[in-house]
Amino acid sequence: PSIGVVVVAAGSGTRLGRATPKAFVEVAGRSILSWAMDSVRGISEPIELVVVVPAALVEAARSQLASLGLPFAAVAGGTTRQQSVQAGLSVLGDGVDVVLVHDAARPFTPVEVFERVIAAVRSTGSGVIPGQPVIDTIKGVDRSGLVLETVDRSRLTAVQTPQGFPRAQLAEAYERAVEDVTDDAALVQQLGGSVSVVAGDPLSFKITTPHDLEHAEELAARTAG
Ligand code: C5P
Repeated sequence: PSIGVVVVAAGSGTRLGRATPKAFVEVAGRSILSWAMDSVRGISEPIELVVVVPAALVEAARSQLASLGLPFAAVAGGTTRQQSVQAGLSVLGDGVDVVLVHDAARPFTPVEVFERVIAAVRSTGSGVIPGQPVIDTIKGVDRSGLVLETVDRSRLTAVQTPQGFPRAQLAEAYERAVEDVTDDAALVQQLGGSVSVVAGDPLSFKITTPHDLEHAEELAARTAG
């Protein structure tokens, strides 16, 4: 397959306040990682899938995802998201020419978002990220909390995943990466690569806090019912 999908699930998820690494926390009886596979499985063309998990959970991930009937490789991640992405990229086969990097922590991302990103990477030949309009008013503040400015929110977009790239562009960005950044598009842009935004989806929210986990439980109950 020419599409590689790297699902990063190696974070500890400290802000969730659980002992279990976030992607292995259960929502309605299934791990967040397992929920994340539902949309990946819906992608209409063949993909090569790599799941990046904490080193101690590689075997657990293999057995947990075996029943999904979707071929995948499971590899150990690193201490930063960037290292985890790199670990995933390093095992993709030679036939892959478009790579999507997706957070397992966004398990309800509709498959349409994946399809939209793939189509846009192909048509632009460059990086593509899903984004959503910013709803809140955003202020710049100093350390003491004093407001310095109001940011023009029409110029802002809240970025989600999957982030898609021509493989060569992403691989070069990772080879030359110096700073640690939280998203792949930032690395590509540091090298002067262009990145554009397509519509994301509210269902792509990232499970970060206990409140997000409650929201996820509600959505899962609706899906099951
Ligand atoms: O912590 P946060 O939710 O922002 O992380 C985003 C995604 O990156 C999560 O799916 C998480 O599992 C993954 N990650 C990773 N390896 C790390 C840190 C985060 O795979 N060292």
